[in-house]
Amino acid sequence: MDRILIMGGRALHGEVHVSGSKNSALPILAATLLTAEPCVIHSVPDLSDTRYMLEILKYMGAKVELLDKNNVRIHAETIQSVAPYDLVRKMRASVCLLGPLIGRLKSCKVSVPGGCVIGPRPIDLHIKGLEALGAGITLEEGYVVSHATELHGARISMGGRYGSTVLGTDNVMMAAALAKGTTVIENAASEPEVVDLAEFLNAMGAQVSGQGTSTITVEGVDRLHGAEYRVIPDRIEAGTFLAAGAITRGELIVRNVVPAHIKAVTTLLEETGYNLSYGPDWIGIKRPGPTNARDVTTSPYPGFPTDMQAQIMALMAVTPGVSVITERVFPDRFMHVAELQRMGAKIDMEGATAVVKGVDAMSAAPVMASDLRASAALVLAGLVAGGVTEIRRVYHIDRGYEHIDEKLVKLGAKIERKPE
Ligand code: EPU
Repeated sequence: MDRILIMGGRALHGEVHVSGSKNSALPILAATLLTAEPCVIHSVPDLSDTRYMLEILKYMGAKVELLDKNNVRIHAETIQSVAPYDLVRKMRASVCLLGPLIGRLKSCKVSVPGGCVIGPRPIDLHIKGLEALGAGITLEEGYVVSHATELHGARISMGGRYGSTVLGTDNVMMAAALAKGTTVIENAASEPEVVDLAEFLNAMGAQVSGQGTSTITVEGVDRLHGAEYRVIPDRIEAGTFLAAGAITRGELIVRNVVPAHIKAVTTLLEETGYNLSYGPDWIGIKRPGPTNARDVTTSPYPGFPTDMQAQIMALMAVTPGVSVITERVFPDRFMHVAELQRMGAKIDMEGATAVVKGVDAMSAAPVMASDLRASAALVLAGLVAGGVTEIRRVYHIDRGYEHIDEKLVKLGAKIERKPE
């Protein structure tokens, strides 16, 4: 287990290249199980989560060939129908095996992944959607068991108490691609990663339309074929680097980004007082004059992403004024608060709302990463805190940021990675 040491207080300067999107790559890799023909996926970020998904695909029977670090060929000529607990439990996102396995095999058995530190993570909406397609689902000893021989189109809502579900929409879309007839997914998630999966399915011969809106229509087809596809850039990695530029009052150009995908984040940074500039696939951020705290409420796309809440909290912790940060997607996602407080942040919690009073400076402390985005917030805090911040359990950050320490060092940060 590695830890990282950050010597804070240096403004970041230069250009950084964003990797492919983790949350697009994971369901797209899973979707390659829908066809017996080979698929080639480009711009897969080299992360512990994507490496683990490739291990899962191998276990399920696919031949996986890494063409190089970010490009992979997957050939799932025949696959097996059981995804056991030991395989699934390590990564919550492995729930996105359900759609492809049910779509291709109709009857299968997938262990239910456990909860995680950001909240309970139920899958009731996934099951409701797959049920409506005729999967005939039972829950047996911790497994979702599908007893179908055929799937049929249906009208399904993917909306829940906390908004629409991203991976639930993905699962239904993947299974419906090989169902008989038309499926209409209402209250569908409209995240760019859902659109990316829909485009990949269409490249495989599926007939998906309406992706990016709240109503997705899937005309079932008899079979899908192999396809070559490039994953979109990671909007959360891009947002995290912009936050790094902002918190250190540096001057950065973040390349390989779709500016429209992180408009909620860039709008907030502009309202806070940062100067941003835009190109077709890059965003620049410049040292501002005075900045002022802003309130943030997370919500499904195109709202402010929950996956940027922790990082923005780190920024608001050192921004003059008071910021009220409300979490509407995962109401328990505040593991970073206690660690930021240990670094001198002034944060009061009231239910799913954090009231952050900006301080002049944070100070370094040994801190513990608890989940992916919480660790990103600690890295940001470390970049600006006085002294040496030691972050333990950095495997959390390696799950979702491709070589973040190396990328930050190239921008002028002083960071060392050491075995724990
Ligand atoms: N929910 C239900 N029932 C369900 C499914 C979800 O009540 O059957 C609730 C969840 O508990 C949550 C809300 O609906 O309150 C939204 O959850 P969603 O299903 O959309 O989350 P997810 O699909 O499991 C993906 C990302 C997360 C990201 C969320 C929200 C992947 C692999 N994961 O999770 O990413 O936070 O969408 O945008 O795509 C991360 O990258 O750090 C991360 C956690």
